[in-house]
Amino acid sequence: MAPAPISVDALTEPQALAELTALADELARHDIAYHQNDDPTISDADYDALKRRNAEIEARFPHLVRENSPSLKVGAARSEKFRAIEHGVPMLSLDNAFSNEDAVEFDARIRRFLRLPPDETVGYTAEPKIDGLSCSIRYEKGELVRAATRGDGRVGEDVTANVRTIGEIPHRLAGEGWPDEIEIRGEIYLGHEEFAALNAAAAEAGQKTYANPRNAAAGSLRQIDPTITAARPLRFFAYAWGYHSQPFAQTQWEALRKLKGWGFRTTPESRRVENAAGLLEAYDEMEKVRPHLGYDIDGVVYKVDRLDWQQRLGFVSRAPRWGVARKFPAQQARTVLEAIDIQVGRTGAITPVARLHPVTVGGVVVVNATLHNADEIARKDIRVGDTVILQRAGDVIPQIVQVVLEERPKDAAPFAFPTHCPCPLHTELVRETTASGAETVVRRCAGEFACPFQKLAHLRHFVSRRAFDIEGLGEKQLTLFAEKGWLNSPADIFRLKARREEILAQDRFGETSVTNLLASIEDRRNIDLDRFIYGLGIRHIGETTSTALSRHFETAERFVETSRLAAGQTAGPMFAELSDLDGLGPTAVSAVLEFARGGPGLLVPPDLSLDSRLKLAIPKLNSKARAALEARFGDWASLEAAARQAAAETPGAAFLEVASVDAVGVVAARMIAEFFGEDHNRALVDDLLGELTVIAAEKPKTDTAVAGKTVVFTGSLERMTRDEAKAQAERLGAKVSGSVSKKTDLVVAGPGAGSKLKEAEKHGVKVLTEDEWLALVGG
Ligand code: IVH
Repeated sequence: MAPAPISVDALTEPQALAELTALADELARHDIAYHQNDDPTISDADYDALKRRNAEIEARFPHLVRENSPSLKVGAARSEKFRAIEHGVPMLSLDNAFSNEDAVEFDARIRRFLRLPPDETVGYTAEPKIDGLSCSIRYEKGELVRAATRGDGRVGEDVTANVRTIGEIPHRLAGEGWPDEIEIRGEIYLGHEEFAALNAAAAEAGQKTYANPRNAAAGSLRQIDPTITAARPLRFFAYAWGYHSQPFAQTQWEALRKLKGWGFRTTPESRRVENAAGLLEAYDEMEKVRPHLGYDIDGVVYKVDRLDWQQRLGFVSRAPRWGVARKFPAQQARTVLEAIDIQVGRTGAITPVARLHPVTVGGVVVVNATLHNADEIARKDIRVGDTVILQRAGDVIPQIVQVVLEERPKDAAPFAFPTHCPCPLHTELVRETTASGAETVVRRCAGEFACPFQKLAHLRHFVSRRAFDIEGLGEKQLTLFAEKGWLNSPADIFRLKARREEILAQDRFGETSVTNLLASIEDRRNIDLDRFIYGLGIRHIGETTSTALSRHFETAERFVETSRLAAGQTAGPMFAELSDLDGLGPTAVSAVLEFARGGPGLLVPPDLSLDSRLKLAIPKLNSKARAALEARFGDWASLEAAARQAAAETPGAAFLEVASVDAVGVVAARMIAEFFGEDHNRALVDDLLGELTVIAAEKPKTDTAVAGKTVVFTGSLERMTRDEAKAQAERLGAKVSGSVSKKTDLVVAGPGAGSKLKEAEKHGVKVLTEDEWLALVGG
């Protein structure tokens, strides 16, 4: 790179960002040349100068330090350089619990789901939650064959060579009784002493030190050169397993013992406890031993001990029902708020960011904290110059909890939130409103693709790993191509191949890199429907929702067509409010609407309590739904009026179809409808579809006896709860419905089944007992 023309002090923020991006790229290339190809292309002194420039810019703009900044890198760890490995069984995460109440509720939830009597003893393991990075190590016939980081849970990075250098991980399993094939899972970490020694050595050598033992462990493992990993004293605790060809234990506790017998270290502090009381006690003890462990733990993991129960409990989305991570409370620190900056996100949302005097909280140096929105700044009366109390909990972005008023400088003025977007369009910032017309705390720039900040953020999202995952199209390339006018919308990415020569004419674009870039773009012309939907970057449509939508609509055509129809049918404010009411599920909403349209039970004695009247008028409502309605509407007249209004505002079938997809709901459906209601978005999608082949979504499972069938459960089930039955059926690819119609394939009826059974008989639908059902699904 030519010597930087501008002195660091004179750089504007966008210039700094562009240069940091370019430097990161350049340094990474030199790293590869040096470490991988043993063929450095510049002198050590020039390399050091680039690093210094990077460090100087970062020192002036600490908030621009990126996660993958060269200054945070030791050696040449570049994730793209690791081969991808698909896990035999996905590596999921755990839901968090933060209090005794949460732990008690976890126990209660397990009991409810398994329908256990209150006096039944439930055994749990309580294990320290090691703060390192998880790893899955595959053994075949007892031999270590592969090791992978967690990655995105489904696919991780191949770190086999590096893992083989960790002394505490056996190359060959000891003892006996191990399955022929098994993925052993656990945490790679660094002890406090080893961490301190590593950092001291790095500081001595003038290298960047790591912020905490977890980063150091990750950085040490993800080295391209395994001899570097070998030189780091990494350690390993085993606590779980993924794919296994044969069962080998009946309880988690027994499994931990087996893992130990096969040569792994397991956490000595793990205990087997019983019931909610046991969970609480284990947490208290873990808090006491925490300072003496010599390595970081950030909480306690509770797991249901019996593996057959774990199996029944299954998973919700990305986390198991049978386990939870009880986190230690957040750590706090004080510092000075130096400035408040404004950032524009992908959707135009304006986020104020606090720039802080650097401070260490729980082992991490913090320089930025989110301030969420203008209201939050006003509510906490946060002013530039204030001393603030900062809090950090786990990986959560640091938050400002409060201002230390006694230390406020005399001249500190209340923060004046900008009225216009910092983008060149200077749009007036408008407050967003909800379906029912209420103002929210979010302010937005309405510039959309015309706002360069939003356009770039959109493109960044589009190419990101979980969306189109286009390698080689990083911040630097996107910024440059957008500036050149080559990228105005996502579809333009697929037309870049026509600009091959123009790209080659740019600084720092060589034959190989351009060929690779264009090849990785071509690679993505065939894209899975869920990635396509997620890539559109519609507000509220995250990964889970995108997957649910893709499963429901199956093809891009069906999704787009229905969404376009939905655009003209958005729910009215009262319908939206009712549907969004906490405690009111879709069935309850339909029941209320049915009632309002003059269904049965309109004539209810007026002298009863609201709850009793509701019970009589809308028998389908459970107590939670009744309480939610009472809390919101207070009296019968208001409730009835609201219900009638909501019924009158019911949107059309297409909108309802979108909203009825699992995990979508009215709010997200509105976002989809709004998105497809805009001409330019419709054009953008059409344009994109013209470039792509969208692969139809896979159905959950098709090779089971009930795949694709619509099943209704009715009456009381005796060997499983309704939730459990539903989850099991869905896992096997069935669709579970609440009412019987001609389209129903199977009705599973337990004792006490009433009208649904009659309905099934009327339509000639096959009826099974619970035992017959279990025999059918092999449960
Ligand atoms: S069990 C289905 N046990 O915590 C997930 N995880 O938030 C099974 N962790 O990704 C994980 N100590 O990296 C389990 N004793 C322990 C753990 C533990 C630390 C980490 C692990 C996991 C994360 C879950």
